Amino acid sequence: MSLEQNLDPFALADALSNKLLIDGKLVPALSGKRFDVINPATGETIGHAADGVATDVDLAVQAAAKAQKSWAKLHPRERGRLISECGRLLNTHVEEIAKLVALETGKALRTESRVEAGVLADVFVFFGGLGSELKGESVPFKTDSITITQREPIGVVGAIIPWNVPLLLMALKIAPAMVAGNTVVVKSAEEAPLAVLRVAQIMNQVLPPGVFNMISGDGPGAGAPLVSHPKVGKVTFTGSVETGKIVYRAAAEKLIPVTLELGGKSPMIVMGDADVDRAVAGAITGMRFTRQGQSCTAASRMFVHASIHDEFVAKLKAKVDEMVMGDPLDEKTDIGTIISPEQFAKVKSYIELGEAAPGATTLRCSAMPTDPKLAKGLFVQPVVFTGLTNDHRVCKEEIFGPVTAVVKFTDYDDVIRQANDTEYGLAASIWTKDLKTALDATQRLEAGLVQVNQNLVVQPNMSYGGVKQSGLGKEASLESMLEHFTTKKTIILNLG
Ligand code: NAI
Ligand code: MG
Repeated sequence: MSLEQNLDPFALADALSNKLLIDGKLVPALSGKRFDVINPATGETIGHAADGVATDVDLAVQAAAKAQKSWAKLHPRERGRLISECGRLLNTHVEEIAKLVALETGKALRTESRVEAGVLADVFVFFGGLGSELKGESVPFKTDSITITQREPIGVVGAIIPWNVPLLLMALKIAPAMVAGNTVVVKSAEEAPLAVLRVAQIMNQVLPPGVFNMISGDGPGAGAPLVSHPKVGKVTFTGSVETGKIVYRAAAEKLIPVTLELGGKSPMIVMGDADVDRAVAGAITGMRFTRQGQSCTAASRMFVHASIHDEFVAKLKAKVDEMVMGDPLDEKTDIGTIISPEQFAKVKSYIELGEAAPGATTLRCSAMPTDPKLAKGLFVQPVVFTGLTNDHRVCKEEIFGPVTAVVKFTDYDDVIRQANDTEYGLAASIWTKDLKTALDATQRLEAGLVQVNQNLVVQPNMSYGGVKQSGLGKEASLESMLEHFTTKKTIILNLG
């Protein structure tokens, strides 16, 4: 199929249907089976994904294992050059990838999908430049010997990715894995298999066959056999805590290393001296309202000082009201749809729980789209709850939807305690003009990422990952490439 940029996402979805990418070639699943890919804004089927199972996974892993031998022998800078080249090539396809991911995930093109497709190249170019950083150490030992350590690739890496930011999360796993000399088999999420397949197809124009393979299929059918395949030496996973633990247990059977990026319930603390307008803007970015709140770092617990609580809530509601919900492919749209009927039901059930809580107020923001074409779309009005306490289920459990709770506080020490009173530890933020408070909070908040007066996403070369139930290991940085995608060999040369 053509590698010309195809700006009709419906035609592209059709052309990419029923394919896995194994050993450099687009092939159907061995069984010929497939599953529907749905446009969540209309409920219509836009294409099909090949339903890969253990036998397909085996073909992909065998291809990756074979390719790994010669890939590892390439000079690291040459591998890096090829990965950078992938980034440059992807940059000529940003618009088609953006439209396709908007169509299959319901993420608005202007506010989300184009942004995600646009940062891909940066990840590949960044890691592509790090080939020469695969350095070892010299270790003091006896005077008549030389002792060094050497970084070696692990082998075949299995990468299991979710649907919320499929392209970027995949890139942050596979770019360092491949630069370090590993080959990869990616298992795409059931809900978002097509845009990542297009990326794989484009990158396979540059990479040798077998270096980057892509399987679609469901979790138990395709994800589980990838984790347990004897030739997979490392698994990197992003998704739910529950599935992360299943993956970790399966990997333990083989004693292989695992990186897990899991859920969150990230606190945002707004002190009484904070700039309220700036904090409101940060709340909107932090809550990822333009992604329907479907983010592991979503600032879904907002602790706001009593002295500014009412002003903060009123301004937050007014700003979210201005956001336009609608067709994800429409340039006017700020907020698209929830990914799937299952997630839609989950989000709705949490909204009902919050509404039923004594003392809670439910503020529904923005307006539902009126276009009859979107009548079956999975649209949910963003909800801001006030009056809930931090021990309510809405404040404890990951909702993964456009639902946040604003909790009033007066005492600083107590709000730090509440912020940390969660099983998660992915991200946190503190909003204040007082440097001493800001610094103190950065030390006391239990999270992998703590921000002061901002709620932005991390950039390549900032280690990213959670503590507590939010995960294991870091991604996105040079250190993550060295620690999680290589193994260290000690070499002693006795010259005596
Ligand atoms: P999930 O964790 O079940 O799925 C993530 C990936 O794991 C998908 O590719 C899936 O096919 C795969 N998978 C599922 N079962 C597997 C198994 N037994 N072995 C290997 N791979 C398996 O997440 P799901 O069902 O899409 O969403 C459920 C909840 O998870 C969401 O409501 C949200 O709370 C959370 N989530 C968190 C994400 C994050 O970015 N940390 C991303 C997606 C979901
Ligand atoms: Mg699941």
